[in-house]
Amino acid sequence: MKQLSVPHLLGIKNLKREDLELIYETADHFKEVINRPIKKVPSLRDITIANLFFENSTRTKLSFELAEKRLSADVINFSASQSSVKKGETLIDTVNNILAMKVDMVVMRHPNVGAAEFLSQHVEARIINAGDGTHEHPTQAILDTYSIREKLGSVTGKNVVIIGDVLHSRVALSNIYALKLLGAKVKVCGPPSLIPKHITSLGIEVEYNLEKALQWCDVANILRVQHERMDVKYFPSTREYTQLYGVNMHLLSKLGKEIVVMHPGPINRGVEITSDVADSGHSIILNQVENGVATRMAVVYLLAQQIKRE
Ligand code: NCD
Repeated sequence: MKQLSVPHLLGIKNLKREDLELIYETADHFKEVINRPIKKVPSLRDITIANLFFENSTRTKLSFELAEKRLSADVINFSASQSSVKKGETLIDTVNNILAMKVDMVVMRHPNVGAAEFLSQHVEARIINAGDGTHEHPTQAILDTYSIREKLGSVTGKNVVIIGDVLHSRVALSNIYALKLLGAKVKVCGPPSLIPKHITSLGIEVEYNLEKALQWCDVANILRVQHERMDVKYFPSTREYTQLYGVNMHLLSKLGKEIVVMHPGPINRGVEITSDVADSGHSIILNQVENGVATRMAVVYLLAQQIKRE
């Protein structure tokens, strides 16, 4: 059986194209499973997984938990707000205490860049990065590219624009790596203050004009404005942001072609995207959520196969 080339999923940067293709093939199978009347398979009956969330999350946490349960893994959940982290315990101590309870795999979201990689170097468990600060969010990029592949048949050769707060977005960076690996053409679009200075060194282009970006693309992936990560003002007002970079139906109807609209959620309705666009036939936002479960089942399953063989 084919295996992933990595022992942990820390970021898309560490993956090869074949890894992504193996994950998609495995996810195709699990997507069929979760649409059956009995949505559960016994594959991971002997595996225990801890979901450690040191930062708020709704869909990523629920999606991982559901994916793990559908594979029949034993699951424990931990949120920083209700734990001894508040009493000053270090990350390694917290995790080693959890591992002493014989946990095989850790899914972690953490506000600090590099937290998942750090953990992988210091504890004996498979680690999945569910978002480390503004750095990477690999499973989001996997489910996004999987959803493009499903909708358009392939990612290779497609024009994908990532719109909005690229500077603070781990979704943007992981998507750029995944899209490039799969041979898509990528542009980012947003106010200059929210586009990282050297982003073109990743082999992508910057387009500051939203209309031109939409005209160029097959797929528009719209990002949330991450107010919680902004220590200073990056644009004069939300109203101005929406006027220049908000995606609305008027803009889409002027294009004279169909484009696919995506958003990782949570959506700020009326800020980066209007409700009529989010809920329209252009949008595959809810397909992304559905595919999140199937693709996370694939990632967890493939890493667990490596443990079973040890
Ligand atoms: C993203 C995240 O947390 O990075 N959301 C998610 O995983 N569903 C994007 C965001 O918070 O805007």
